[in-house]
Amino acid sequence: MELFWAAVVGYFFGAIPFSYIIPKLKGVDITKVGSGNVGGTNVLRNMGTKYGALAMFLDIIKAVVAVLIFKPFGEHPMVMAGAMSVIGHCYSPFVKFKGGKGVATTLGTFFAIYPQAGLFALGVWIAIVATTQYVSVGSIVGLLAGAFFALAFGKDYWVIFLALALFSVYRHKENIKRLLNGNERKTNVVDYFLG
Ligand code: G3P
Repeated sequence: MELFWAAVVGYFFGAIPFSYIIPKLKGVDITKVGSGNVGGTNVLRNMGTKYGALAMFLDIIKAVVAVLIFKPFGEHPMVMAGAMSVIGHCYSPFVKFKGGKGVATTLGTFFAIYPQAGLFALGVWIAIVATTQYVSVGSIVGLLAGAFFALAFGKDYWVIFLALALFSVYRHKENIKRLLNGNERKTNVVDYFLG
């Protein structure tokens, strides 16, 4: 029964579309600007550091909270809540089931279940985004790195981490096409955060 509730709670926490709500409060429909993605990167790109950072932070935190609610019930409900928060984020009923790419929620899930894997994924994300300015590449490689980190340290939920990372690769299919065509957007995230 815990697994069922972890799935429900995880899904609805993940479905809260902070990256849609924050721009909307400022009169911007995030689905109509930039990449159109309901995600922190697109908020950053179109609304600046303050709102972008807030959207990224809240999209991470909603997964962390969903996972930690189930900490008293053990690892399996925690993993279920985290995985379902990613599904909720990507297929949110509050944005006509067209949510984001699940990067922040997956990162939040990694952090809440195995903080070292979250830190490793974030470190790889920062390194790649800082050097290439391709957020999509940082996201894909960073999440895969987090999953392999869990595998390397013998965590048996590594397979779920890997599934989430591969799901995010799938959600980046348009970015991958643009990367191959040489017309993927570059976003100077370092400049946004460090001025
Ligand atoms: O977090 C999503 C990021 O990896 C790519 O976002 O807006 O460039 O498609 P975007």
